[in-house]
Amino acid sequence: MTNKNLIDLEAMGVEQIDKIVRKARKIMQSPADYRHACDGKILATLFYEPSTRTQMSFQTAMLKLGGRTIGFDNPMNSSVSKGESLKDTISVISGYADIIAIRHPVEGTAMAASLYSSVPLINCGDGGHLHPTQTLTDIVTLSCEKGRLDHMKIGVCGDLLNGRTVHSLIKTLAKYEGNSFVLISTKELSVPLYIIDILEKNGCTYEISHSLSDAIVDLDMLYMTRIQRERFKSPEEYEAQKNVFVLDREKLDRARDDMIILHPLPRVNEITVDIDDDPRALYFKQAQYGMFGRMALILLLLQDEDFIISSRETELSVHRCNNPKCVTQSEAYLPNLSYKKLGMQMCDFCDKRID
Ligand code: NCD
Repeated sequence: MTNKNLIDLEAMGVEQIDKIVRKARKIMQSPADYRHACDGKILATLFYEPSTRTQMSFQTAMLKLGGRTIGFDNPMNSSVSKGESLKDTISVISGYADIIAIRHPVEGTAMAASLYSSVPLINCGDGGHLHPTQTLTDIVTLSCEKGRLDHMKIGVCGDLLNGRTVHSLIKTLAKYEGNSFVLISTKELSVPLYIIDILEKNGCTYEISHSLSDAIVDLDMLYMTRIQRERFKSPEEYEAQKNVFVLDREKLDRARDDMIILHPLPRVNEITVDIDDDPRALYFKQAQYGMFGRMALILLLLQDEDFIISSRETELSVHRCNNPKCVTQSEAYLPNLSYKKLGMQMCDFCDKRID
């Protein structure tokens, strides 16, 4: 089966991802050629969770393509506050807009929304699960700044458990040949097991590290992330984790001259401000690259008939997903969609194992 929704970059092959990157680079070279590419089209941004960059860069992307935008960034100003279901909201909005970008604090919401959307739908972050368009931002940056997406030693540091940007990034870069990973975090915030499974399935080498100072010395790219305070059960658990890994001048001095530092932003204090002027610090430029990546994605989804995304084969499982953070817990009408992986039944919405 195929569709036009971007829920998880996992569903795309390397050629398709490369096509988005190539398109983004073309737009960057001559933005004026695309000024009317989406004349008359409407993007709806449905942000049920705070955002600065993702929402604004999608809106700017559509405006720069000649289209217009509608949407909300505070669900309490929409009918959600009256108890409207996700299904009803999406069924209505997809009759207004040509394309939808959605962010939600609950895992699997974008996948759930796509079931009821008659127009292309883009996942802009679903809880601690995935954030595919941040990964587009990251790989457009890598492609422009490093000239390649393969054979790199990639360090990811911070909240690897709850950081959805990290999950999407590792899943995508694991598809490219010769990439190896250093996973730098505390034991409590290490990557979910399903991400380790993906690294192993793709034959990628990876190391687990608890020391940024040690890990930094031979990296091509360091991807710093903030500790995701809003996803902790208690303030005490967050307090115990914050500030464990801080990239400062002393640590950066140990890195190679050609290592680049990326961060999806917002930064809290995991990178000291004095590093911002270092030529290796690319996080602000990265945010700008993201806008071009999103322009490319909108164009391909709306205008390229060959740009279709494959869907995995699903079946109805007897049991409902019991991940308390999964959308199936809050939207009761959702079917128990699942898929098989290594003989296990996985939830199609949040990718957790259904027992
Ligand atoms: C990230 C997110 O929302 O997951 N921000 C972003 O979209 N650039 C990272 C974060 O919030 O830490």
